[in-house]
Amino acid sequence: MDSIRVVGGRALRGEVAVLGAKNAALKHMVATLLAPGDHELDNVPGILDVDIMGQVLDHVGASCRRDGTTLAVSVPDELNPEAPLELVRKMRASILILGALLARLGEARVALPGGDDFGSRPIDMHLEGLRGMGAEFELNHGVLEARAPDGLFGTEVFLEFPSVGATENLLLAAVLAQGTTVIGNAAREPELADLAVYLGEMGAKIEGAGTSTIHVHGVPHLTAARHRVVPDRLEAGTYALAGAISGGEVTIRNCVPDHLRMELRKMAAAGCEVSVDESSFTVRGPDRADPIDFATLPYPGFHTDMHPQMVAFLATAGGTSIITENVYASRFRYIGELNRMGADIHADGQHVVIRGVDHLSGCEVDGCDIRAGAALVLAGLRADGETLVTEAHHIDRGYDGFVPKLAALGAVIERL
Ligand code: EPU
Repeated sequence: MDSIRVVGGRALRGEVAVLGAKNAALKHMVATLLAPGDHELDNVPGILDVDIMGQVLDHVGASCRRDGTTLAVSVPDELNPEAPLELVRKMRASILILGALLARLGEARVALPGGDDFGSRPIDMHLEGLRGMGAEFELNHGVLEARAPDGLFGTEVFLEFPSVGATENLLLAAVLAQGTTVIGNAAREPELADLAVYLGEMGAKIEGAGTSTIHVHGVPHLTAARHRVVPDRLEAGTYALAGAISGGEVTIRNCVPDHLRMELRKMAAAGCEVSVDESSFTVRGPDRADPIDFATLPYPGFHTDMHPQMVAFLATAGGTSIITENVYASRFRYIGELNRMGADIHADGQHVVIRGVDHLSGCEVDGCDIRAGAALVLAGLRADGETLVTEAHHIDRGYDGFVPKLAALGAVIERL
């Protein structure tokens, strides 16, 4: 069995420290491939996706060794240009290997990526940008074969949407390209800015990461470096909402509260008491949330990966909330599961209408992706009786020690 059992009704109290961001650590691991030598990444969470990325790196010739939260990655001079199908299919972040291998080797063979079931998630922007830099692609039997016969060269790319992955793929490709690459309408996520910091520590010349226009001046080679991964704002936000939904009070440590500005603002609007320090914040939940409206947007907007947890919180609000999902075409499978617990939630196109109910009641629910699984556990903290969240391996993809951390805050929770 692969389930989490939670018994509702206990207000969470105490402090919890977060680790480095999954969505930074995975990219940093790929970035190591750009520079032969011994890299060291600190503050790396012990999650399944990091293990899978470790296997991907292993396959292309690098080797990873974990010691606590430090990951040592040793990158040889020679790399294998092929990323294995069965691993890439498991995790969308592995598509970034395309930019890194093209930059290092001038060729790459990567299967089309899998990942969470949020509707169609194309990689057209990644490919269009890399094409502009001199890459050629051919799709053969589900494997994308990429070549840059004359090497990669700097160009101006203007993204149709500030895609995190496309911006990162272009950044990885551009740091070793000839000349200057300008990425317009770039994603501004803190994890991407942190990737640029790490690349800078390796010797890359990047300006404007964290803003909508990034300039990358290609350099001939990079050197291995040591880097501490930026704290995980999604882990932080999830524990904050775990405290809030239970009517308790939780302090989140080792984080950057500024990276959650919009999410904390919405928690406050929903009746939470929020207090912020430099590297920690405290959220105290109301007896019953006030209804709010919000829309998910690229950073610094409300993060789509906090949407299911926020909906779980609003399920028992004293009124109707409306949210609009603007990043994914479809990430609503968890709604049916929340409704099985007694919620009254209805998705229509990109909109979700949440009519607050008096109470939720525990039952068996399917945690179909990382954030859906987390949201259902949160709902279980509020619900009467026992909730069993199945498919809990999804939660392990993104949260290090989810069950023990919640238990330490006073939740009645166990892994089956
Ligand atoms: N899109 C395209 N074409 C492209 C690229 C993206 O149409 O070429 C679309 C996607 O289908 C999606 C939207 O653009 O609808 C945004 O996708 P984006 O590229 O920004 O997302 P991503 O890089 O695939 C990362 C995170 C996701 C997070 C999104 C949005 C990683 C490994 N994943 O995905 O995280 O939801 O950014 O912030 O960094 C999670 O951690 O649970 C997770 C799913």
